[in-house]
Formats: sequence, C-alpha cells, structure tokens
Amino acid sequence: MNISIIGSGYVGLVTGVCLAELGNKVICADSDAKKIKGLKKNIVPIYEPGLEELIASNVKNKRLKFTSSIKEAVLKSEVIFIAVGTPSLENGEADLTGIENVAQNIAKYMDGYRLIVEKSTVPVETCFWIKKTIAANLKNKYKFDVVSNPEFLKEGSAINDFNYPDRIIVGLESIKAREMITSIYKPLNKPILITNIKSAELIKHASNAFLATKISFINAVSQLCDKVGADVTEVARGMGLDNRIGKYFLHAGLGYGGSCFPKDLDAFINIADKLGVDFKLLKAVRQTNIQQLEFFLKKVKNSLWMVKSKTIGVLGLSFKPNTDDLRNAPAIYLIRALEKEGAKIKAYDPKAMAKAKPLLKNVVFCKDAYSACRGVDCLIIATEWNEFKELDFVKVKKLLRRPLIIDGRNIYDPAALQALGFTYLGVGKNG
Ligand SMILES: NC(=O)c1ccc[n+]([C@@H]2O[C@H](COP(=O)([O-])OP(=O)(O)OC[C@H]3O[C@@H](n4cnc5c(N)ncnc54)[C@H](O)[C@@H]3O)[C@@H](O)[C@H]2O)c1
Repeated sequence: MNISIIGSGYVGLVTGVCLAELGNKVICADSDAKKIKGLKKNIVPIYEPGLEELIASNVKNKRLKFTSSIKEAVLKSEVIFIAVGTPSLENGEADLTGIENVAQNIAKYMDGYRLIVEKSTVPVETCFWIKKTIAANLKNKYKFDVVSNPEFLKEGSAINDFNYPDRIIVGLESIKAREMITSIYKPLNKPILITNIKSAELIKHASNAFLATKISFINAVSQLCDKVGADVTEVARGMGLDNRIGKYFLHAGLGYGGSCFPKDLDAFINIADKLGVDFKLLKAVRQTNIQQLEFFLKKVKNSLWMVKSKTIGVLGLSFKPNTDDLRNAPAIYLIRALEKEGAKIKAYDPKAMAKAKPLLKNVVFCKDAYSACRGVDCLIIATEWNEFKELDFVKVKKLLRRPLIIDGRNIYDPAALQALGFTYLGVGKNG
C-alpha cells in the first residue's frame, strides 16, 4: 500500500520504517523541515536501537522516503497515519493543535478516498473531531474513514514492539476501513482487537494510566520498606508471582518519566474531569510519583549531610535505558535540585549526553562511567543502562572520594557492594 505518516518522531519514524519493511511504500512527513533535511541525508534525529540501519536499507530499496510537504504526503497515499506530538498544556489538557492542523491539511489536499489512522495518543472523542474537521474543510465531498489505532511501543525496544505487539487495537466504523487496516497489519500475524472508536481511544489512556498506577503503587510500598528495613524487590517478586497481579511494572525506583506517562495521565485526568468524573485514584498516582523523587532526594541529602560544595556523580540521564529521550527524565529533575542546593555534578550517559548538554549547562559531562566516579562524594544511579550493571567496583571504589552509592534503580546487590566496603542505599532496598 501507499502509506504516509505525518509526524516523524519516535512513533512516526518507527511506524513508517516498519511498515516499509513489511513491503509498503511509505512517505514519512514532518513540519520540521530541518529534521526532514537530516533524514534525507540519513541523519536520524533520535537514538532507537536498529532504527538507523532499518531506515538506510528501506531508503535504499525505495520503499521509504521523507518529505516536509504535507501536500505530497496526502496526495501520494491512500492511508495516512497521524503520529504528531500531543504535548500537555499547562492545565494538563492534551494540546491537539497539531492533530487539528493535520486534519485540515488532509482535507485541503486529498483528491479521493483516504483512510486516516489516528496513532498519536489522544483523549477520547478526538477521532470524532478529526472527522468533523475534515468534513468541514473538504472542498469536494470525497469519502474517507478515520480509525483509532493507538500505539503501545516502548522507546528502547520500539522496532521489536512494532513487530511483536501483544495486541493491535483498532477502533473503526466501516467495513472498508476494517479491510484496509487489517490487511496492513496481517503480516505481523498478531491479535487485532477491533472495537468502536471511542473504546480504542480509551484503551490507550486507560492502559498507560494503569501502568503508571502499578509503578506508583510499588514506589509507595518501597517507602514503607525503607522505613522498616524490608526489601521491595522481594515484596514485588512475591506479589508478581500471583498471576492476577503479574510481575511487570513492579520495579520501585525514581518513578515514571518520559514523554508518555506523565502527559497521558494528566490528559486522562483532565478529560475525566471535563466529563464530570473525578478520577481521584489517578490524581494520587501522579502525586505519589512526585513524592517518590522528593523521597529519593531526601535520601541523598541525608546521606551527604551538607549538599553544598559536594561533587555528585550521576550515571544515566535518559528517562530509561536504550533511548536518548530526556523528556520528564527523573535524572534531570534530580540534577537541577542538587545543583540548586550547591552541589557540583559530574554525569555520564551512553546516548543522551548530546541532548542533555543544552539543558544542564553547569554539569561536567564525562567520557565514561568511570570518569563520572572520579573524585565524587556520592554516586547516583539514575538510569538502569546495562553497562552500569557491569562496572568494576574495585576500580569504582578507588575512584570515589567516598564509597557511597545511591541506586535509584535497584540494579545492584546490596550485600555484594557492602562486602566491597561501599555504603549502599537503594529504593526500598538498603541491604
Ligand atoms: N514516544 C513514545 O514512546 C510513544 C509511544 C506511544 C504513543 N506515543 C504518542 O505518539 C505521539 C507522537 O509521539 P512521539 O514521541 O513520536 O513525538 P515526537 O515529538 O518525537 O514526534 C512528533 C513529530 O510530529 C511533528 N509534528 C508536530 N506537529 C506537526 C504537524 N502539524 N504536521 C506535521 N508534523 C508535525 C513534530 O515536528 C515531531 O517531529 C504522541 O501522541 C505520543 O503520546 C508516543
């Protein structure tokens, strides 16, 4: 099929290149001309494992191209995926101006039937408004369908998630749309759940809100573990072995960050409020997430006594491993808070330092994890990159000014580090 993706960020690029890999002819479009110019020269604006290679091979095979002309994208495709950003407004509401703009452009340029696939994360009833906007702006009364097809990929494993999804959700209301969208996803051979459009829209927000709830739940439990000296990883394991609970998303740490959970939770709470439903549970989830970082910060402060003039090493900046995404990254919050108290920060991240430099002007960025350990009063683990799990701790101990490790991701065995003479503090797990 001829497919266009409007919005070539994390979701748009991954979706576009994976659809090209399945044999479709794909155009990835974006209003950011600089981004498109770079992509045309094979400069991929984000780090996502395997993405650069997959883009290069699909461009070479002429299945994938890039354009900053939305007109070209609309004219040359029968299926248009919308994957533009839907950031938060100050009141938490989703900013849907990008979505409206795309809907207007589709109406302006379409010259026959189009299937519009809404993939960005949006509040319930957005597809209704997309339909209304297109219908109101169409000059000729061409037919079109709008389907809701929320995305569940995870940064860091996005290509794998596209190819092996647990399920594909599609909300639709016409037979033609059903045939087209199922034929696009058929090669993946994965369950496709067809629902009505509003249910599909709600599935995405409800899923992310539920996952955030699991994270906040175990983080609140971790605070209790800290108070009484229990081990939250043991508690989580014991809970997760119950099939009704499941082991995933029960890792205590610095709380959720990234471009999705905080924004989607805000948007879900906001739309619920607008619809007259006071979703108190989710408000508490959000509050717990904020508290978790404050709790961790207090732990750092308590163990250093005075933060002022101390040098702190921070390993990991991205909001999670295998990505360079810094949006709502706990590390950024922590570093800013510690700098405010007068600390000097040395940091290292395998992939996110280029993006972090403009945000953290006073941080000393190091060439590797060991350089970030040299001469620091305390080492904080803020992102659980695999390479931090394999450090040589005899070497680390020699480099640190004081053998204090505060592990915001619980990646180390407290007993092993204590045996080497470290003071180890985890999250709900202090050995
Ligand atoms: N990143 C994730 O892990 C993830 C996962 C699932 C769903 N989502 C959702 O997918 C959507 C996109 O997220 P992302 O992380 O890819 O965002 P992103 O910021 O990386 O990319 C969005 C792109 O859309 C472009 N854009 C914005 N307005 C445009 C317009 N009017 N016309 C053309 N291009 C436009 C921007 O220039 C940008 O390149 C969001 O709604 C997000 O919540 C993201």
